[in-house]
Amino acid sequence: MKANIAVLPGDGIGPEVTAEAVKVLKAVGQRYNHEFVFHYALIGGAAIDRFGTALPDATLDLCRRSHAVLLGAVGGPQWDDPQAKVRPEDGLLAIRKGLGLFANLRPVKMLPCLVHTATLKAEAVKDVDLVVVRELTGGLYFGKPKRQWHTSRGRRAVDTMAYSEREIERILRMGFELARQRRHKLTSVDKANVLETSRLWRQKAMEMAPLYPDVELEHMLVDNCAMQLIRQPSVFDVIVTENTFGDILTDEASLLAGSMGMLPSASLGSKTRKLLGERWGTFGLYEPIHGSAPRRAGQNLANPIATILSAALLLRHSLCLVQEAEAVEQEVTDILDAGYRTYDIMEAGMKQVGTKEMGDLVSLRISAGSQS
Ligand code: IPM
Ligand code: MG
Repeated sequence: MKANIAVLPGDGIGPEVTAEAVKVLKAVGQRYNHEFVFHYALIGGAAIDRFGTALPDATLDLCRRSHAVLLGAVGGPQWDDPQAKVRPEDGLLAIRKGLGLFANLRPVKMLPCLVHTATLKAEAVKDVDLVVVRELTGGLYFGKPKRQWHTSRGRRAVDTMAYSEREIERILRMGFELARQRRHKLTSVDKANVLETSRLWRQKAMEMAPLYPDVELEHMLVDNCAMQLIRQPSVFDVIVTENTFGDILTDEASLLAGSMGMLPSASLGSKTRKLLGERWGTFGLYEPIHGSAPRRAGQNLANPIATILSAALLLRHSLCLVQEAEAVEQEVTDILDAGYRTYDIMEAGMKQVGTKEMGDLVSLRISAGSQS
């Protein structure tokens, strides 16, 4: 197969972790006879410095012409002035919106070999295997009005949480369908005791439930969900929730997988791309859930696994290469089982390696074809 992959390294550790994921994809291409062509473009602070905008048109065009997008991370202290006209994060929001990527899948799985690295009790986290389906192009992030202004009694600011029935329906459908492919349990998370958008969300979920009789639907208030995620995380299968709640809950959930450096994500929409033969892949953008960690940048320290696992999701969802995706995931598990660790998941008795070495270990094993 031939595929065009847009690579947007971004800022901070972004370029380092994407380089390792590209290395792994190249190894997959060689091993399984695919031609992956990588096209690079700027986003975030790097794009602001060069073009004065966080998402240049050329970057968006490149993504639209590609089968999938691999992104590192954006942001850094040099662009953090609250008065700034443009911010790196604007680029991330604009690309999600511009590409119609309304569903953000964040799988959280505890690998047995990392159970003791977790901050939480091994007993609580050992069976964690859940996916958060986060709505990505609505809610507080995009609602209008959104502004700050001066009044005679000081400054005021407003953000708007808005959702249409259509936006809620398509993300809930994604949640139901995913639950159907997994353990048939869907937790819809809202704040229906306070928010009108949440009441619409809950009504819609109840209306759709009869279409999925094989899925057990439960509703949970977001504050309670934050608590249950720590108390008994293994009971969750699929969690579906709106943008801001999903943002917060997934940072929390990353603790359940040992480190932020372990969690990949896939942002999908309704667009597809024709692949070789009669197959169609879902167009998507793949990025680690962690940020640009500017203090760790340029030191060959960052854990590239979240980005490598994001590349595995890219293979699975956008290129329909399931066997290849599984091979990448298995190699990551095997490398960890063999005792290799980056600093964020380091434990006594293990072998600490840097960003590059971790990428080399995974790609070398793929080239050697240890899974086939
Ligand atoms: C994430 C990040 C982003 C978000 C930031 C960087 C804008 O936290 O992908 O979770 O809030 O969506
Ligand atoms: Mg976040």
